[in-house]
Amino acid sequence: MSSIASSHSPDAIERAVSVLNAGGLVGLPTETVYGLAARADIEDAVAKIFRAKGRPSDHPLILHISDISELDRYAVNVPRVAMTLAEQCWPGPLTLLLHKTSAVSPLVTGGRETVAIRIPANECAREIIRQCGHGLAAPSANVFGHVSPSSAQHVLDDLGDRVELIVDDGNCSIGVESTIVDFTTSDPQLLRPGGFPAEDLESLMGHKLVMPSGESRASGMLASHYAPKCTVVLANDITEAHDAHNSIPNSRILDHWDNTPLYAASLYSQMRQADSDGVDTIIGVLPPISGLGSAIRDRLMKASFL
Ligand code: TXA
Ligand code: MG
Repeated sequence: MSSIASSHSPDAIERAVSVLNAGGLVGLPTETVYGLAARADIEDAVAKIFRAKGRPSDHPLILHISDISELDRYAVNVPRVAMTLAEQCWPGPLTLLLHKTSAVSPLVTGGRETVAIRIPANECAREIIRQCGHGLAAPSANVFGHVSPSSAQHVLDDLGDRVELIVDDGNCSIGVESTIVDFTTSDPQLLRPGGFPAEDLESLMGHKLVMPSGESRASGMLASHYAPKCTVVLANDITEAHDAHNSIPNSRILDHWDNTPLYAASLYSQMRQADSDGVDTIIGVLPPISGLGSAIRDRLMKASFL
């Protein structure tokens, strides 16, 4: 049976570490979404992640570390500018795609020579990683293709017995996945807009990020991702949303469209709520293309893709 341990209980971290060190899976709270974590150096444990999610084995996983000093154990030839972002943005919702060392199993990277790495801002997560003494591979803790989990209950709803322990640290503060930047090509590419605003990264780097093209974009970034069961209809503004709501039976407009941080933080729970309420269609107002708004637009568009 899977169990939930409150992050406030004194033995939550110890329990999580012992499950992970024994090759088990833990639902891990992060500031973006909950992860489904395994020790990245235990291949049987990493294999369990793919089975639990129903995820194809060529879809690479993000390696979560607890301190920047661990970076050179897993990545080589880290460009200066990537190092600058790591120093300025970690811990935080930024994932860097780098060249891997032999310490990273091909199982984690889906056979690729590159590895995606981040340090989560959630302190409980970092303490668990630190005490494990090795990086944790962790995709979002949802069934493959479904909406990511922003609470411990979401993890339980999706994965049930397939995860041994879920550490409950409340609702994720950001609510959308990390921003992913690829530093393995000549010009850094934005692979996924996310919790860290791309504009802020560009000002730290002193130049624009390249938008993804073909190959790297295709690797695991399927169009029809992050989808609830109900139909998702997009609206350019609230007037358009009201018109859609009036013409589509059993529809609901996603709330908090006028408050970007709250929209992001509540997006996945609103999608899940609509499904459990039996709503047929949700209408999402597209926020402006800036900051977290870019990540919300990306997820709404993917969720609307049939
Ligand atoms: O915020 C997040 O990033 C969350 C939390 C748990 O950290 N994790 C997350 O993981 O969103 P996941 O597996 O749902 O998404 C990871 C994305 C996938 O689209 C995957 O294809 C991409 O990262 N990725 C990972 N390693 C890669 C690699 N070596 N090359 C290209 N893409 C990679
Ligand atoms: Mg995911």
